[in-house]
Amino acid sequence: VFSNSEEGSICVAQEIANLIRSKQAENKVCILGLATGSSPIKVYEELVRMHKEEGLSFSNVITFNLDEYYPMDKNSVHSYYYFMHQHLFNHVDIDPANINIPCGTVSAEDLHQYCIDYDLKIKEIGGLDFQLLGIGRTGHIGFNEPGSHYNSGTRSITLDHLTRADAAPSFLGINNVPKKAITMGIGTVKKAKRIILLAWGHNKASVVKETIEGEITSEVPATYLQDHPNTTFILNDEAAQDLT
Ligand code: F6R
Repeated sequence: VFSNSEEGSICVAQEIANLIRSKQAENKVCILGLATGSSPIKVYEELVRMHKEEGLSFSNVITFNLDEYYPMDKNSVHSYYYFMHQHLFNHVDIDPANINIPCGTVSAEDLHQYCIDYDLKIKEIGGLDFQLLGIGRTGHIGFNEPGSHYNSGTRSITLDHLTRADAAPSFLGINNVPKKAITMGIGTVKKAKRIILLAWGHNKASVVKETIEGEITSEVPATYLQDHPNTTFILNDEAAQDLT
């Protein structure tokens, strides 16, 4: 628990940078699972700073993003493709061929196979070395809304009303928020060797408490992280305020 999100974010960026560098030293690729939303923005800011000022290279990094709205054109300002390029990829030396973000324009008939292939690609490359997560007020990680199975794979999902309401301001109204998304599954996320979940602010306090102190339940999918062997929650005081 940090007193502010800046300090917490810098700590997380340092861990990611250390992982990238240690893989470089072994001549290996570094497979990162990445999140969008407000929570990781300062982590990406710090990684960009480290690239520009300290020479941190992303040349050995392969990324897989957690999710994308569906349908969603990648050029839309609302797409997670746009978000990731704006906050990270446009400012570092990652090979564009190493960037994987679920495609929001895949046809309905190809969607099922597309999701299976997304998981396969992660598996074949050796699995996620590190997964960065935020948490939604429904208890979602990725867009694994309440009811998600602990062993679920990448798939399309119907967004919870609360999730769409939380996204409404940036879409200028809930009616403009897509009803669906493509998300990595709980099973996909839980296979990551290391997981860090970020939560900042009062409005995450109650779901953080349920996630850490509650029973493991599909009603709060983030509780599935309780039996992952290498997960850390990075919180600020406000997000941690309800913990006993
Ligand atoms: C985003 C994602 C979501 C967000 C969550 C929190 O890729 O997978 O689970 O992490 O909705 O969003 P923020 O950080 O905006 O509060």
